[in-house]
Amino acid sequence: MKLQHSAFSLSLLILFICHTKTVSLSPAAAPVQAPTVAPVQAPPPPAAQIPVLPGPINVVNILERAGHYSLFVRLLKATQSDTELTVELNHTHNGITIFAPTDGAFSGLKVGTLNSLSDGDKVKLVKFHISPIYISPSQFQTVSNPLKTQAGKGGRMALNVTTTGSAVNITTGVINTTISGTIYNDNQLAIYQIDQVLLPMELFAPNLPPAPAPAPAPLVVAPPPEKPKKAPVLESPTVPIDDVSGVASFGVHKIEEMLHWMC
Ligand SMILES: *[C@@H]1O[C@H](CO)[C@@H](O)[C@H](O)[C@H]1NC(C)=O
Ligand SMILES: *[C@@H]1O[C@H](CO)[C@@H](O)[C@H](O)[C@H]1NC(C)=O
Ligand SMILES: *[C@@H]1O[C@H](CO)[C@@H](O)[C@H](O)[C@H]1NC(C)=O
Ligand SMILES: *[C@@H]1O[C@H](CO)[C@@H](O)[C@H](O)[C@H]1NC(C)=O
Repeated sequence: MKLQHSAFSLSLLILFICHTKTVSLSPAAAPVQAPTVAPVQAPPPPAAQIPVLPGPINVVNILERAGHYSLFVRLLKATQSDTELTVELNHTHNGITIFAPTDGAFSGLKVGTLNSLSDGDKVKLVKFHISPIYISPSQFQTVSNPLKTQAGKGGRMALNVTTTGSAVNITTGVINTTISGTIYNDNQLAIYQIDQVLLPMELFAPNLPPAPAPAPAPLVVAPPPEKPKKAPVLESPTVPIDDVSGVASFGVHKIEEMLHWMC
């Protein structure tokens, strides 16, 4: 009798929950709105003209004409840095310097290097190749390190320049490379060719303090710091043992499961 009663209460409970669930779900099923009329599509813009229209300098255009920077161009476009550069070049007083890695530089990266980056990190990587000041080839002799880039300055985003004669070396702490050519220079914008992608430490160096000199193997290996313990997972819901109501003996899991396919 008691069991029967419990089963009955249980089914009532389920009915009640199912019902409430339905009711509480109904607002979500909002009345279908009449589809908004699609705005009349503007005619597609005319194909890019090869002679550049007067106006702000177009970095993508310059790189495409120069050839073999197609992967960098793709990255500029994917991160919308191309349109940002256009705006910046239209307003800047200090000019802009861009280090453009060749396609060969990108193919020299380990497989998956770019794909492993989040969209935000791709933006950082591109900005790391752009300095918000115009630096002429001869000014590299006197710039102070670390060089300011759009990705920040110094620390683990350091871009350092050293010169030997007219050769300009660049180091990021992850890679060393040399400027191997001037693609464009108009005293406001300079674009230099580099043969390696500038990989900043922040994204590509293991996030570790500088490794100490190897010490003799310690006799006692310290255990790794203990992680905070998770609250113990209970096998069954915390219900007093003497509670013999049907709900308790079914267990919360079971009921949820049932509701899932009943409702
Ligand atoms: C360039 O800047 C001028 C002045 O601020 C502005 O009128 C013009 O629309 C800008 N052009 C572009 C392509 O951003
Ligand atoms: C620049 O790099 C070249 C080749 O990697 C190297 O021989 C030269 O010593 C470097 N110069 C400076 C100033 O770091
Ligand atoms: C860059 O130069 C600064 C200043 O000389 C120095 O503190 C920093 O360690 C250098 N970083 C790299 C990666 O060479
Ligand atoms: C870069 O150059 C520095 C100093 O010239 C050297 O210590 C470092 O090992 C080089 N790093 C790479 C990745 O070649």
